[in-house]
Amino acid sequence: MSTSKRTIFITGCSAGSIGHALALTFHARGHRVFATARTLDSMQELHEKGIETFKLDVCKTDEIQLVKAKVAELTGGSLDLLVHSAGVFNQTPFSDLTMQRIRAEMDVNFFSVAEITLAFLPLLLESTDARVLLLGSVAAYFPTPFYSIYNASKAAMAQLGNTLRVELAPFNIKVIQTLTGPVKTNILKEEKLPPGSLYTPVKHSYERSNPDVFGKAAIPVDGFAEQLATEVLKKNPRYVIWNGANAMVWRMLATMSHATGWIGSCRIRLV
Ligand SMILES: NC(=O)c1ccc[n+]([C@@H]2O[C@H](COP(=O)([O-])OP(=O)(O)OC[C@H]3O[C@@H](n4cnc5c(N)ncnc54)[C@H](OP(=O)(O)O)[C@@H]3O)[C@@H](O)[C@H]2O)c1
Repeated sequence: MSTSKRTIFITGCSAGSIGHALALTFHARGHRVFATARTLDSMQELHEKGIETFKLDVCKTDEIQLVKAKVAELTGGSLDLLVHSAGVFNQTPFSDLTMQRIRAEMDVNFFSVAEITLAFLPLLLESTDARVLLLGSVAAYFPTPFYSIYNASKAAMAQLGNTLRVELAPFNIKVIQTLTGPVKTNILKEEKLPPGSLYTPVKHSYERSNPDVFGKAAIPVDGFAEQLATEVLKKNPRYVIWNGANAMVWRMLATMSHATGWIGSCRIRLV
């Protein structure tokens, strides 16, 4: 796949994101990139470089159908690579969440992936060597406290990816997913503990955990995108790619915890 010019559709391409960096990388390598984000302004740099940009909120069915139709028209009805990079991350104790917030996070991180894959399937079937790339997370494996819905959404996405890999293989569609550790983008924010939370005794550690644990470790997004673009366009790519900061450590811990149940014995101390 790596040598010829490919058509590539990417969600979540606002400035500073993985989608944005991937769009620049694929474009620089001569591929035809269709980059999308909730606002066109957030993709100004991509537009200036000649990348085709489209407005897409991944939770809006009408926008998905509209952009699918435009891409089909521009490519003559096919697509070689569909990249799901739109995503949201919220750190909040489960006890402080509402069903509205839970559904909203699952909508972006999981249901949109299913809906967009379904919408673009007819285009992927027209390619002679199609791929789908899911930006997954090590969170799929680790029950990091206060990330409950993010962890659940990434676990659901991982298993959707594993199953689609098998179901779509007979049609020459390769489904590839990443299990990514921290990368420097806009995703990590400092979070305040909601007033009256059950976890008020550990407020300080709660509010420092993102910047201290993940923020400091995160790797630059450009190099991350370069490596991922190379892997995903290989003739025989790995189907599961552990990448991002400390990828090998996450992988080893996931294997250990799977084998021993060790992760289930972790505790939060409220003193
Ligand atoms: N960075 C990491 O450490 C890391 C690690 C593991 C996995 N990942 C995964 O990698 C993917 C990309 O994340 P990132 O690090 O690039 O984070 P990011 O910088 O926050 O980018 C996320 C992108 O998703 C977009 N998005 C959010 N809601 C959307 C919606 N309803 N419709 C369309 N686009 C929407 C954002 O657009 P707006 O700018 O408009 O909000 C932004 O372009 C995510 O799926 C994330 O879970 C990231």
